Amino acid sequence: MQTNLRGRDLITLQEWTKDEVDTALEVAFQLKKERAMGVPHSILRDKALAMLFFFSSTRTRASFETGIAQLGGHGAFIESATTQISHGDTAKEIGEIYGRYFDGIAIRQCDWGVGNRYIRDVAAASRVPVLNMQCDLFHPFQIGADMMTILEKKGNPKGLTINVSYAYASSYQKPISVPISLILLMTRFGMNVRLTRPKEFYLPNEFTEQAKENARKSGGHFEELDDFDAGMQGADVVYAKSWGCLMTTSDLQESARISKQYTNWITDERRMGMAKEDAIYMHCLPADRNIEVTDGVVDGPNSVVYDEAENRLHFQKAVMALTMR
Ligand code: CP
Repeated sequence: MQTNLRGRDLITLQEWTKDEVDTALEVAFQLKKERAMGVPHSILRDKALAMLFFFSSTRTRASFETGIAQLGGHGAFIESATTQISHGDTAKEIGEIYGRYFDGIAIRQCDWGVGNRYIRDVAAASRVPVLNMQCDLFHPFQIGADMMTILEKKGNPKGLTINVSYAYASSYQKPISVPISLILLMTRFGMNVRLTRPKEFYLPNEFTEQAKENARKSGGHFEELDDFDAGMQGADVVYAKSWGCLMTTSDLQESARISKQYTNWITDERRMGMAKEDAIYMHCLPADRNIEVTDGVVDGPNSVVYDEAENRLHFQKAVMALTMR
């Protein structure tokens, strides 16, 4: 267990050691248990978290705001459109100034080619921890909660097969931050990670190479497939979601046009039947129901999506407690 996380940023879990990730998971389980038993844990009394959003949210906003309140602190919800950012406040100014008002700065900025750079620029100027609530490349709090859920439902993840698959959605071209973060973290826990996607929906080479290296070190495995059915065969964990083919084109309309070739990439009962009988179905949500996944699967007996969403709260509280105290 690591006890020196005070002041640390969390931009991607890849930048935390395995011991540090294990520490966050251990604290998350402890806080979850304490919450279930009604044990108060005001670890961050009088502390305040800035929650700066450039993009909409259901789960992330609510779980960070509730989480900091349960830790005895205050969360300030700040929509970028209500700030002076569009009138000239730079990332450096946000880091410098919010760093003097707040004890932590959490940011969601998903714009392709912009978000991660923005969060890193704020972090470089901030005297307090900067927490990535999702950028164009990473969604570390989602994936921490996902690992909690796998540990709860399946026990030791080493040797388990996870199918991280593309699925079609019509609503919008979703960021690639979830599949990147999944292949990076799950390979560090010795899982057999399948990245299953149509040819246009590949992920940046630096991250697939990193996933291979993570798997080599952990005794896991990483492979890429282009056949949804093949990816489902014998899987212990099914995590199929949509993303834009942003490496093929940065034009979102063109990405939407390309994705229409793959409307049959839906997680349905037939495909779940190819996974192990006790496989769990995961999705970070929101999902396009009956387009990306059928009601029968997302509401079915193998689905763990609501426990997964709950674990956002516990994992985020753990990281805030460790970094902002
Ligand atoms: N999974 C997730 O990040 O949900 P929101 O976009 O609703 O925050």
